[in-house]
Amino acid sequence: MNAPQGTAAPEAEQRDVREQAVTDEVIASFDGAESGRYREVMQSLVRHLHGFARDVRLTQAEWQRAIAFLTAAGHITDDRRQEFILLSDVLGLSMLTVALDAPAADGATESTVFGPFFVADAPEIQLGGDVAQGAKGVPCWVSGQVRSVDGVPVAGAVIDVWEADEDGFYDVQYEGKRTAGRGRLRSATDGRYRFWSVLPSPYPIPYDGPVGELLTAAGRGPMRPAHLHFMVTAPGHRTLVTHIFVAGDEYLDRDAVFGVKDSLVVEFTRRTGGTAPDGSERDGGWAEVRFDLVLVPEHEDRE
Ligand SMILES: [Fe+2]
Repeated sequence: MNAPQGTAAPEAEQRDVREQAVTDEVIASFDGAESGRYREVMQSLVRHLHGFARDVRLTQAEWQRAIAFLTAAGHITDDRRQEFILLSDVLGLSMLTVALDAPAADGATESTVFGPFFVADAPEIQLGGDVAQGAKGVPCWVSGQVRSVDGVPVAGAVIDVWEADEDGFYDVQYEGKRTAGRGRLRSATDGRYRFWSVLPSPYPIPYDGPVGELLTAAGRGPMRPAHLHFMVTAPGHRTLVTHIFVAGDEYLDRDAVFGVKDSLVVEFTRRTGGTAPDGSERDGGWAEVRFDLVLVPEHEDRE
């Protein structure tokens, strides 16, 4: 419906002009930034942030609520709890960044979210050793080969692995400084790797903080399908951050952080007793999975 001439329409126009003037002034305040990239990022951020506020006609009470949310996220964050990565994950920003910065390359292993549970300086584990280090769960033999997209094996690749135990918790979520369910291995001269760990279990992302409140308010669940994290680093190759997911998991189609890609869903074969691939005799249930980690050479420039 058209506003009467000379009243509402000009008022709305004046409002738009006033609002745009604020935005323009802030954008211009970054004109003198030394780094062109910093200027580009910040000016775009301001443009979109202001556009978002205008779009929803953000109230001051809502703005205060947002500040309180971010303050709570800061207070709960420390070197073992990373609420901001969780926030980025549940908003899909982490996966979008993966899509933008680590695009799929033909034949290469796909990337997915880093998540909040990586810890630097994980213990070195010998090939064939046990990453579980006391983490509860069904023993799981994990093996494969690290190679380049051209098929050449990558020797000496640093492979960080980390996962939750069968109760759905990472070591850093327990009291104390125990390290379990994480380790660092190096691929052999033929690129192969192998280790014992535990069969991954589905788990809820930590939901006792502000991100949990966000999920509850949205009517969303906190569960992630069972997975094992990998980060693979090798000279001359792009670092690969990924997981493998357990085929058949009930949460594959509703991962709280949107991290599932079909190529990363693999069969974990359940076994009972018998001789494991490393020659050890097993007397209970165990599992095995094979997954090759295919890296992209660094010199392959992105589009
Ligand atoms: Fe995880």
